Amino acid sequence: MLGESAAARAQILAIFEDRIWRDLRAWKAWTALSRARPAILALLQAALDARRADPDAHDDLLARLAGLRDADGAALDDAVILDQVMMLTITAGDAVAVAAAWALDRLARHGEVQAQLRAGAPDYAEAVCREVLRLHPVLPTISGRRLTAPVDILGHRVAAGVTLAPCEYLVHRRADLFEAPLEFRPERFLGRRPYAPSAYFPFGGRERACLGGVLAPMTVRAVMQGAVALGRLEATADREPAVVRHGTLLAPSESHAIRLNRCVTAHV
Ligand code: HEM
Repeated sequence: MLGESAAARAQILAIFEDRIWRDLRAWKAWTALSRARPAILALLQAALDARRADPDAHDDLLARLAGLRDADGAALDDAVILDQVMMLTITAGDAVAVAAAWALDRLARHGEVQAQLRAGAPDYAEAVCREVLRLHPVLPTISGRRLTAPVDILGHRVAAGVTLAPCEYLVHRRADLFEAPLEFRPERFLGRRPYAPSAYFPFGGRERACLGGVLAPMTVRAVMQGAVALGRLEATADREPAVVRHGTLLAPSESHAIRLNRCVTAHV
C-alpha cells in the first residue's frame, strides 16, 4: 500500500510490532490500535504529503488515492484517504491468514478432500473454502448494527438504539440450517442453490459487507491448492486445535502443528 521503499511503512510496521501485535488476546489489540492510531495517522499524513510534493516518485495505493478525482474534478479529502488506507491495513491480512490456517488444518484431517483438490475441479475448491468459512468464519460476529427503529425478532421486541451483532459462528452451526453441522462436508455446497444470506454470512451482508468477500476466498483457495500441490498434509494430533483469540479473530492455537509430506512441519 505504501510501497516497499516508504520510510513510513517501516515506522508503521514498528508500531504494530511494538505496541499492537504484542498482545493479541481478546480486545487488547483493538485497544492498543486505538491508542496508536494518532501516531499511525501522522505517519500516513506525512507519506501522503510526500506523494503530493512528488507525485511521480511512487505508484502505490496512497499515490493512487491522492490522484483520484470525483465527477467535479475535486480530490478526496486527506481524512478520507487516510481512513481508506487505515481500514485496509487492519482488515485485510490477518483474516485471510487465519482462514488459510483453518483451511490447512481441515485439509490435514481430510486426505480425501486433498485428493479431490489435486484433481482440480474449481467448484470443489470453492465448496471447500465455503465449508471452512462455515465452520471457522474467522470473525465470531459481523459488525454491530444500531437499530434506528424497533424491530420484532422471533417474538422479541428490540428497541431503537440497541446494537445487534448477528453471530455467524453460532448460526453456521445450527442443525436446522445445516445437516450434521459439526462435520466438515464441502459437498453440502455443491449442486444446490446458495444458502440464504441469513443462514450463511462469513462476510456479513448488505451495505457493510466485507470488501474482501471475493478476493479473500480466492487467496484461501490459492493457499490450499498450493499446499496440496506440494505434498500430503497430515495432522499431528487427533484433537482439533483449540480456538484462540487473535485480536478480534478466532484462530487455531499456535501450539498446533500439521505435517507436510512427513518431512516439513509447519505451525498453523
Ligand atoms: C477470509 C477472510 C475475511 C473474512 C472472513 C472477512 C470477514 C469480514 C466480516 C464478517 C466483516 C463484517 C461485515 C459486516 O458487518 O457485514 C468484514 C468487514 C470488512 N472487511 Fe473483511 N474479511 C476477510 C478478508 C478481508 C480482506 C482481504 C479485505 C480487504 C481487501 C477485507 C476488508 C474488509 C473491510 C474494509 C470491511 C469493513 C466493511 C464496512 O464496514 O463497510 N476483509 N470482513
